[in-house]
Amino acid sequence: MVLLLLTLFLTVFSALSVSSTQTIVQGFPTLTPQTSLSVEKETDFLISPNRTFSSGFYKVGTNAFCFSIWFANSLNKTVVWMANRDRPVNGKQSRLTLQKSGNLVLTDAGGSVMWATNTFSQGQVEVQLLDTGNLVLVTNNGNVIWQSFDYPTDTLLPTQSLVRNTTLVSMRGRGTYLSGYYNLKFDDNNILNLIYNGPMVSSIYWPSTVQETVFYFGRTPYNSSRVAFFNERGSFRSSDDLEFNASNFGVGPKRRLTLDYDGILRLYSLDGATGLWEVTWQPGGVDACRVHGLCGPYGFCRYNPLPTCSCPYGFYRIDPSDWSKGCSPRFKLTCNSTTTNQLDFVMIPNTGYYGYDLDTYGLGLSFESCRNACLIDCRCQGFVYSLLGKGQCFPKRTLLSGFQILDLSRVAHVKVPRDIAISQKGKVLNTSSDLNCSAAEVMVSSGGGSGISGGGEDTKRNGYMKLLISFVGSVAIIEMVCIGLGWWFVLRKHVREELVNMGYIVLALGFKRFTYTELKRATLNFKQEIGKGGFGTVYRGILDNQRVVAVKRLEGILQGDAEFWAEVSIIGKLNHRNLVKMWGFCAEGKHKLLVYEYMENGSLDKLLFTDSPSSALDWEHRYNIALGTAKGLSYIHEECLEWVLHCDVKPQNILLDDNLEPKVTDFGMSKLFRESLDTGFSRVRGTRGYLAPEWMKNVTIDAKADVYSYGIVLLELLTGKRASSFHWQVGEENEYNRLVQFVRQKIKQDMLVEVIDPRLNHACSDGKLETLVKVALMCVGEDRDTRPAMSKVVELLSGDDENIDDQEGDN
Ligand SMILES: *[C@@H]1O[C@H](CO)[C@@H](O)[C@H](O)[C@H]1NC(C)=O
Ligand SMILES: *[C@@H]1O[C@H](CO)[C@@H](O)[C@H](O)[C@H]1NC(C)=O
Ligand SMILES: *[C@@H]1O[C@H](CO)[C@@H](O)[C@H](O)[C@H]1NC(C)=O
Ligand SMILES: *[C@@H]1O[C@H](CO)[C@@H](O)[C@H](O)[C@H]1NC(C)=O
Ligand SMILES: *[C@@H]1O[C@H](CO)[C@@H](O)[C@H](O)[C@H]1NC(C)=O
Ligand SMILES: *[C@@H]1O[C@H](CO)[C@@H](O)[C@H](O)[C@H]1NC(C)=O
Ligand SMILES: *[C@@H]1O[C@H](CO)[C@@H](O)[C@H](O)[C@H]1NC(C)=O
Ligand SMILES: *[C@@H]1O[C@H](CO)[C@@H](O)[C@H](O)[C@H]1NC(C)=O
Repeated sequence: MVLLLLTLFLTVFSALSVSSTQTIVQGFPTLTPQTSLSVEKETDFLISPNRTFSSGFYKVGTNAFCFSIWFANSLNKTVVWMANRDRPVNGKQSRLTLQKSGNLVLTDAGGSVMWATNTFSQGQVEVQLLDTGNLVLVTNNGNVIWQSFDYPTDTLLPTQSLVRNTTLVSMRGRGTYLSGYYNLKFDDNNILNLIYNGPMVSSIYWPSTVQETVFYFGRTPYNSSRVAFFNERGSFRSSDDLEFNASNFGVGPKRRLTLDYDGILRLYSLDGATGLWEVTWQPGGVDACRVHGLCGPYGFCRYNPLPTCSCPYGFYRIDPSDWSKGCSPRFKLTCNSTTTNQLDFVMIPNTGYYGYDLDTYGLGLSFESCRNACLIDCRCQGFVYSLLGKGQCFPKRTLLSGFQILDLSRVAHVKVPRDIAISQKGKVLNTSSDLNCSAAEVMVSSGGGSGISGGGEDTKRNGYMKLLISFVGSVAIIEMVCIGLGWWFVLRKHVREELVNMGYIVLALGFKRFTYTELKRATLNFKQEIGKGGFGTVYRGILDNQRVVAVKRLEGILQGDAEFWAEVSIIGKLNHRNLVKMWGFCAEGKHKLLVYEYMENGSLDKLLFTDSPSSALDWEHRYNIALGTAKGLSYIHEECLEWVLHCDVKPQNILLDDNLEPKVTDFGMSKLFRESLDTGFSRVRGTRGYLAPEWMKNVTIDAKADVYSYGIVLLELLTGKRASSFHWQVGEENEYNRLVQFVRQKIKQDMLVEVIDPRLNHACSDGKLETLVKVALMCVGEDRDTRPAMSKVVELLSGDDENIDDQEGDN
């Protein structure tokens, strides 16, 4: 009885408090038994005590609503949880009711139950929305009998745990709240994965399955507790040892970890002033095109420069509004022993398809054998062949998750009837342009398929469907029909191509556009200079969030803002442990600045070329610097899916972090300064002493020029001497290879000892020393064809030379 009175009192009180201060306070603190929230009343929502979160009906389409929790202060109410994401309710008469029995029930217009907590309590219960964003059902003695934190949708909030039986599921598309195909969850090996879980297949795309084992990423499968969460300071921990911090680490900003509809997991922080979200972390190696399933069956993704899906020649897009449905052949393929001579392949240059390999027909298989094996095998839909090394043949059972790959020798072949293959031969397929320092073709594309896609006729059909929908919609037969169609309409409208806009770049790359005043303030009006290079001066700065950064002020850049933005976005996309990370940029008229992470230990030259009798860099460190630098360069040359040459590899551009791990900086500058390059290479980029011989000849510069410069750096690591200090010692015509000649000569005389930096005290282990000398000399070969690719250098230095030609798994 007392209880009942109390309830009554509380209800009346809360109702009173709402009505009396209506203009300031909106929303209820709690929901008590036998009360409900109505979809029709805008004031019917819960709000957390400090007003961070709200919970109520959220409009997801024409007359379609989902019961949700959102950030009250974000610009567009950012939803973090939904009760009924796949079963929206009507905009009329739907309600959320807390029944007397303790069951929280969401009912639709007709009274049908669309969602319920299925809880039961003998005592009094109430619904509360906590400041953490957790919606809880608590009994009067404080027991939580149900909480939304146990049933996440696509977002994890601070202190919320992802556990054994929970999964983050992305939305289907932008603005479409339906469950999508990307999942974040623990797999059976206790590893936290990103998985494409499509209608037909599923595959893990993070951590990458290409590298040998999960240990490579510092993960462990040996902890079976399977729990992951992040705290209010933005520090994430998972039982598989995955750990990361938000870039603006610290208490303060409101955060969320969301698996976005494009399959990329992002940690966001809310900018309190603007209500906008800023990306403060996202997994490395998960580029937009590397997300599986993006372009559907047969489709392949390219950076154009933004991620763009295309169909192979002879195929068309199934659904113009949803790339994930992929492509369909314009032909019917009959495959039996008598028809194989009517089959052939269409080619897609520098493209790979993930996984689904048939029993690999073997390494070292010639192209013809690979082709023929696939031709007669009816299971084989196509194959990817790499001409490099011994030749690698990857016959595919399924063609899914096609992606652009830098390796020019890698070509995907898709099985088609012969006449289609013949008609393709006449078409242009110039995707593989020459690699040179100005070669990056950057255009801000407006989306859509590139050159070799089909599917024009589908647009017409879509237009007709839309007309039909709007007609039916206006007639408004019955509400239920409206809901259904409205929902469907929402689905159709939000096409995946919306990926393609400028905002997306910044979002996807997780880097920030700074204002000039912001950077001026951070650097105290460009006070503390920490370096000067060919492209501008670098200053130390401290951002508003206390983060120490290096700000590079570019000089003499001729590009306009949009072009600069596009170029910078490509550089910003490069994300590797051995590359200095770019945090953001500023482009305001003549002010063009880049913001990088700050490296305490400065550049390699400062530590290497000292006069002190002992060196700060022992042999192990030097070897590690050689290897790390090679990995960084190999990444920008071959793995990063964009053509990037460094063009100025030298110790000044190799920075060292706290652990003396090398990070290459200044990469991609050649892209920003393209115009000066285009004037016939009159200005040689790069630095004397490190320039490959071909810079002096009138030939296209390619990745091998970087390999040469890298070789010089290796010689410097070995000798402890600056290449430039050799300028005047010998009087020969080639002024850039004195160091090389010196080393070669000594080796010929079998005087290796005289080459090695005396400060190393012969402390170098012999095997590794010889490897390094050998690699260095290969890299500085006069003939660029004899120089190894950077990936080869990595293999040689990591000592796994034996299995160079092992298959790469991802193909
Ligand atoms: C917020 O919503 C409005 C209207 O729906 C839209 O135009 C705007 O782009 C959205 N802003 C953000 C940051 O999403
Ligand atoms: C509200 O509470 C949450 C969680 O305790 C906290 O992170 C946030 O800073 C608080 N917000 C305000 C405006 O006090
Ligand atoms: C996960 O397991 C816990 C404990 O067994 C249970 O309380 C919870 O309801 C489960 N969550 C889901 C989403 O099944
Ligand atoms: C497993 O992970 C949990 C959560 O991170 C941790 O508390 C526990 O100590 C770990 N167990 C082992 C054996 O490392
Ligand atoms: C995150 O920050 C904390 C505190 O500064 C630090 O102890 C921890 O090592 C950091 N973790 C990572 C993965 O950087
Ligand atoms: C092979 O397929 C063709 C075309 O469908 C058919 O006419 C022929 O009978 C088939 N041959 C065999 C051996 O199945
Ligand atoms: C494609 O490349 C070939 C050979 O390099 C060239 O002859 C042809 O003109 C190119 N086509 C286009 C459209 O660039
Ligand atoms: C580099 O490539 C661009 C674009 O492909 C071309 O216009 C330019 O002439 C090339 N430069 C040299 C030196 O070959």
